[in-house]
Amino acid sequence: MNPFKVTTLNEFILNSQAQFPDAEGDLTHLLHHVGTAAKIVNREVNKAGLVDILGEMGTSNIQGEDQKKLDVFANDHFINSLHSCGEVCAIASEENESFILFDDDVARKGKYVFLMDPLDGSSNIDVNVSIGTIFSIYKRKSPIGEKATMDDFLQPGTEQVAAGYILYGSSTMLVYTTGQGINGFTLDPSIGEYCLSNTLIKTPENGTIYSINEGNYLKFPAGVKQYIKYCQEKDEKSHRPYSSRYIGSLVSDIHRNLLKGGIFMYPVIDNAPHGKLRLLYECNPIAFIIEQAGGRATDGKNRIMETKPLSLHQRTPFFCGSSNMVNKVEEFIQVFG
Ligand code: AHG
Ligand code: MN
Ligand code: MN
Ligand code: MN
Repeated sequence: MNPFKVTTLNEFILNSQAQFPDAEGDLTHLLHHVGTAAKIVNREVNKAGLVDILGEMGTSNIQGEDQKKLDVFANDHFINSLHSCGEVCAIASEENESFILFDDDVARKGKYVFLMDPLDGSSNIDVNVSIGTIFSIYKRKSPIGEKATMDDFLQPGTEQVAAGYILYGSSTMLVYTTGQGINGFTLDPSIGEYCLSNTLIKTPENGTIYSINEGNYLKFPAGVKQYIKYCQEKDEKSHRPYSSRYIGSLVSDIHRNLLKGGIFMYPVIDNAPHGKLRLLYECNPIAFIIEQAGGRATDGKNRIMETKPLSLHQRTPFFCGSSNMVNKVEEFIQVFG
């Protein structure tokens, strides 16, 4: 690749759209607005500490979580940016109990519904640890021109037309897929453009990193405990013991494991009998990305993206990453429960 050739996100999207002559550019337009909203959030994340954007809002969301100012800031900006693009007829967000209907003449003609975790890893905001945004896009099922319905959102992850995340880290990256592989774009603040930096990312089928909140160890199912023990045993041939790496921001943990290989696990625990992570706007989009990179994403038994959603904020146990590592933990769960 020409070391001086810079491919911007817009150029990349237009080039890839050219492969689909019947494409009308609406998804292209939508993704452009995702990038714009992320630049605004990135600007505040990078100034956090200098401006009054840290700390609690003093409100809580439908999850019963205390909302951080940046949770609400990110939520508002993504909603505004996606409403103004006219391609989205409604949005579901971690921060809102029901979906947000865009009921004006333009947006009612939008072909897509958008689901998001506007700020992932909120517990890390005030301590300057990487955080992210996760999004998932579906074609609506309800007739164009009419009001969006809950059925537009309760589609299995296999129906996603696009999904991705933004990682506000040492550099800000946008990683997304439309089902043709996954590519990573790094924001160059000096020109305000996302530039292609990771082409057609593939995740190793084996890794030496396991990511889980071991503070919950005593509450894990027996199979998960046995798998953690397996990760910690010495076995040169399979490069064990593995390294334990856990940041507490799903996007950061996933991005590291995607590039290096590894497994991320959030199993059921007693105060989270269905797991903690949300199916629609955390697990499905991450699963789409990981599967496009050659990895696997399951609930410990079944493919995450085939889960039939019953409610917007439903939770699921989540095991995802290098395919052989996910296979192995599933073996332990099958034997030990
Ligand atoms: P969010 O900040 O969007 O509510 O998500 C937090 C999630 C996810 O980012 C992370 O993997 C997980 O919570 C960490 O949970 P624990 O602190 O229970 O380990
Ligand atoms: Mn939250
Ligand atoms: Mn989250
Ligand atoms: Mn969140």
